[in-house]
Amino acid sequence: MKTLFSGIQPSGGAPSLGNYVGALRNWVKLQERYFCVYSIVDMHAITIRHDAAELRKNCRDMLAFLIATGIDPEASVLYYQSAVPAHAELAWILNCYTYMGELSRMTQFKEKSKKHQDNINAGLFTYPVLQAADILLYNAGFVPVGEDQRQHLELSRDIAIRFNNMYGDVFTVPEALIPESGAKIKNLQDPSRKMSKSDGDGDQGVIYMLDPPDSIASKIKRAVTDSESEVRYSETKPGVSNLLDIYSVFTDKTIAEAEKDFAGVKYGPFKNAVAETVAAALSAIQSRYREISADSAYLDKVIASNTPRAAAIAEKTLKAVKERIGFPL
Ligand code: TYM
Repeated sequence: MKTLFSGIQPSGGAPSLGNYVGALRNWVKLQERYFCVYSIVDMHAITIRHDAAELRKNCRDMLAFLIATGIDPEASVLYYQSAVPAHAELAWILNCYTYMGELSRMTQFKEKSKKHQDNINAGLFTYPVLQAADILLYNAGFVPVGEDQRQHLELSRDIAIRFNNMYGDVFTVPEALIPESGAKIKNLQDPSRKMSKSDGDGDQGVIYMLDPPDSIASKIKRAVTDSESEVRYSETKPGVSNLLDIYSVFTDKTIAEAEKDFAGVKYGPFKNAVAETVAAALSAIQSRYREISADSAYLDKVIASNTPRAAAIAEKTLKAVKERIGFPL
């Protein structure tokens, strides 16, 4: 079985519908075909100021959440990034093989520096190098992510290729697995930008995976559309297209089939149907989440058994890297 790696930041609250549609949903499905390593990337999360107790709680909540969505912690490896020191070690080494120019071009760095002008730290700048280390440590051939991670994945490939050219084939060169539909779910209030957890809790444009049905319905009802009344997928209709994307993913229908379902239907009933579909799909995950998050002993056991599994793979790769670059054996 080929290996696949992906990560998610434990950034407060439940994951967004964007996280789920663009990534987590595929993480679950891909378990059938790949050996999957999934990391809760707490080291990435500290590039933005945070509260210590909250971060610890968020990591735990994310662990429960990932299991509730269907990640199987016996078949797949599920762990906290900071518990495996090889990530930090390889990131340092790869920093020395990554150029400032490459990192300056990263859109996420530019966006985050604009948003957090009082805290443009070096970690924020080298964030994509840590991400490359995450992936390369596990020799992952595939990385399921949403569209916003494409650029980071390309950089990870470039770093792997550069390193391999210098030292022989140490790393597997990873490929991004970006879904055909739902790779970029938009903010419901502003469909020109992606739906993002960091848009803030009060934001009506973001659906969170633990939102109750009435809140899902009210957010979708208020979603920005356009002045026409035709449910059709088009670049000129980003709000309606976003809702069609969401609907098609949750019903496993193509966009054309989704459009057909709403031929001649007004925006009001269309939105109701989308809201019902989403709420129904989330309700099973939500009740599993409530059960799992209440079972501390089980979560402790998952972490205690999975961290050494992750560390064993990562340390083997790190050792090979250290040998190649000449660190004393
Ligand atoms: P993060 O935590 O921001 O997001 C987790 C995953 O959700 C996807 N995603 C979306 N997909 C579709 N529509 C959206 N609106 C949307 N918002 C988020 C993201 O593309 C991502 O796949 N740097 C990464 C975490 C990371 C990582 C890694 C990923 C660290 N190391 C190694 C892959 C491999 C991040 O911040 O994702």
